[in-house]
Parts: sequence; C-alpha cells; structure tokens
Amino acid sequence: MRAMFTAGNGPVQIPAETLANRVKELGAQIAQDYQGKTPHLICVLNGAFIFMADLVRAIPLPLTLDFISISSYGNAYRTSGEVELLKDLRLPIHGRDVIVVEDIVDTGLTLSYLLDYLEARKPASVRVAALLSKPSRRQVEVPIHYLGFEIEDAYVYGYGLDRAQFDRNLPFITSLHPEEE
Ligand code: IMP
Ligand code: MG
Repeated sequence: MRAMFTAGNGPVQIPAETLANRVKELGAQIAQDYQGKTPHLICVLNGAFIFMADLVRAIPLPLTLDFISISSYGNAYRTSGEVELLKDLRLPIHGRDVIVVEDIVDTGLTLSYLLDYLEARKPASVRVAALLSKPSRRQVEVPIHYLGFEIEDAYVYGYGLDRAQFDRNLPFITSLHPEEE
C-alpha cells in the first residue's frame, strides 16, 4: 500500500497548525476589509479547494462563492504559461466584490490570465488571496492582497496542492528536494 501522509525532504515544510492559524488570520483580515459588503469568492480549482474551504469558514460575513478551473500547460511541476479554461464560472460577477482564491502564485502567468478574464466581466472590485507565493519565480507582476506564506523556489504539495495529482489530501504542506523535480 502507498504510504500515507509522508513529508518530502525539501526545504519548505508548513505544519497543519501553522496553516490553520494563518488562514484564520487572513479570514479575519478579509472580514474587516469587507465589512458591510458581500464578497464573492472564486476558488481556482483544483489546488485551492482546501484553502478555500478553510478560508470561507474564517470569514464571518455574508458571502457567495464559485469555482473556476484553468490549466496551464507544462510538465507536472512547471507551467509553460499557456492557459486554458477548463470550467467556467456559474454565477455572474458584474458589480461584485470578487476575491480570487489561489493556491500558489509561481510565475504569475495563470493569475495574470485569470485577472484579465475576470476584469472583462466588470466586477466592482477584484482582490487576490493566495496561500503561497514564490516571488523568485515571477515572470509577470500580479497583485496579491492576502498572502499566506512567501516561500522559496521548491515544488510544494499537500493541503490541496498536488504532486502529479497525488498528495492533495496531506494535511500539511511539504516540498520536493530540488533533485526530485
Ligand atoms: P503560475 O502560472 O506559474 O503562477 O502557476 C500557476 C499554477 O501552477 C498554480 O496555481 C498551481 O496550480 C501550479 N503550481 C505552481 N507551483 C506549484 C507548486 O510548487 N506546487 C503545486 N502546484 C504548483
Ligand atoms: Mg492553481
């Protein structure tokens, strides 16, 4: 049987409790910033699904949510920057205060594509909540209003993020040793 919940031996390790505490802080910050408003959270599938589930429960405001799925071509670990829409939004965003919920911003190409796509639908505002960011890998500048953790350049997985589709169910974030990528 495949061993469960095994940490990688790379440089980035974020325990479940650290994730939980930070997500609660982000939720509280969002709740404060959006007081009196009804934010519309858009989860970028698949990687952000666990972050989204925890984040919305940390925002004590009336809110709505939706899901979008985009894929950037590339190998298992690196994006090529070519983006394809796999699953569109169900709900209109015109006039809404949108918060994009992303797992990780790496090159920024996916988020940049997505922000253009959303802006074209004339929301009242758009902000980004990203659990992780690898600033050293950025190719295009993208705004991140709510950031969980800045990390170094390593391939991370767990807590929704995959390693060749597996390990999304790890309750913590861990990373590959650079030689494994
Ligand atoms: P970007 O377009 O290069 O910013 O990367 C976008 C997407 O690639 C992210 O939303 C993730 O889905 C995926 N990705 C980038 N780096 C990692 C990683 O270290 N682990 C898991 N997925 C990643
Ligand atoms: Mg993603």
